[in-house]
Amino acid sequence: MKNKLNTKNISLCEPEIRGNEWKYIKECLDTAWVSSVGGFVDRFEKAVADYVGAKYAVACVNGTAGLHVALVACGIEPGDEVLVPSLSFIAPANAVRYCGGWPVFIDADPQTWQMDPEKVKEFLVKDCRLAGRTLINRRTKRPVRAILPVHVLGHPVDMKPILTLAKKFGLDVIEDATESLGSKYRGRHTGTFGDVGVFSFNGNKIITAGGGGMIVTNNRRLAERIRYLTTQAKDDAIEYIHGAIGFNYRLTNIQAALGVAQMEQLENFVDAKRRLGERYAKALKAIPGVTLPAQAPWALTNFWLYTILIDREIYGKSSRELLADLNRQGIAARPLWHPLHSLKIFKGSYHNGIKIVDELYGRALSLPSSVGLKPDEQDRVIQIILEQPKKRENRRG
Ligand SMILES: Cc1ncc(COP(=O)(O)O)c(C=O)c1O
Repeated sequence: MKNKLNTKNISLCEPEIRGNEWKYIKECLDTAWVSSVGGFVDRFEKAVADYVGAKYAVACVNGTAGLHVALVACGIEPGDEVLVPSLSFIAPANAVRYCGGWPVFIDADPQTWQMDPEKVKEFLVKDCRLAGRTLINRRTKRPVRAILPVHVLGHPVDMKPILTLAKKFGLDVIEDATESLGSKYRGRHTGTFGDVGVFSFNGNKIITAGGGGMIVTNNRRLAERIRYLTTQAKDDAIEYIHGAIGFNYRLTNIQAALGVAQMEQLENFVDAKRRLGERYAKALKAIPGVTLPAQAPWALTNFWLYTILIDREIYGKSSRELLADLNRQGIAARPLWHPLHSLKIFKGSYHNGIKIVDELYGRALSLPSSVGLKPDEQDRVIQIILEQPKKRENRRG
């Protein structure tokens, strides 16, 4: 039927399967190369390394495991502190705790919403002291070992000042690029600035392997250590002698086959996401009380989840009320993650004052951002957001 209204439910960010996925997975099944070694694992690693411009890539079971093993390989031990943004999905902070370490939560930059380099500096300079070559947090007395910036929602962190601080204070940098595959900072792919970078291929990411992760680095010694640790740290394959407490964090060939097929389409997916972002921006920019996500002059974002801020006083509704309106009409949207520094499970961790993340948490709403979101579907989302101020005026009138 022509011009039929599309009333299908709209999800937040769903996978787009339109390339060689069936063909490559069938190849795994036909050849019985289904498990944790196989040609597709190697191809997937090479495809990601080539794409982002890293020397080495090690596939792993998911992004969380990738962060864990990256921290272990960087030598994070019980009692060590690692700087983590308070605004993030929980995985990086959990990965620090898996090592017995403690996150030090950092506030967000008010423009980019990313880990604020000024707050990092403030913590390192004011709250820490050097004892020999070890940096110690004066308040907790714990050693500070690393910085773990997260390119939240796909927008890059301002890495330059963070790398300068890390060098000055002798800290490792583990980049959580799980949401930012395809995003660039000053023309270079996110994930390639730190000692190690980690990507995720969870179903809601820009490409998926069903589940999966990739750890990238330019450091051969770290790459070898990471591969060793993800494969049970086996020293002797015949006698089964293990030289460390390793992990079974390998990716299966079937998942890698899906990943390879998705990598072939990544550039198109990035373009599609950026078009979605531009379309949202054009439609929503004039609405009083709606703030669009910034794109810093040095950033190219993949708009992983297109997220807006709602000023309740001006817009007439809170972000949670708008969320309920969208949900009622079968449209998925969601607030940002609960600020990590105030989760009970992280009691005992330190932060040097957090204000912006709390504000963002109250005001932010992530909108449907699937690669395959159709213009008429996006228009339905936009229409509901546009309607709110009018309703408010009507109520007053
Ligand atoms: C910021 C961040 N870090 C880590 C992860 C963990 O990745 P995975 O789900 O592959 O374990 C995710 C998302 O899933 C994420 O959004």
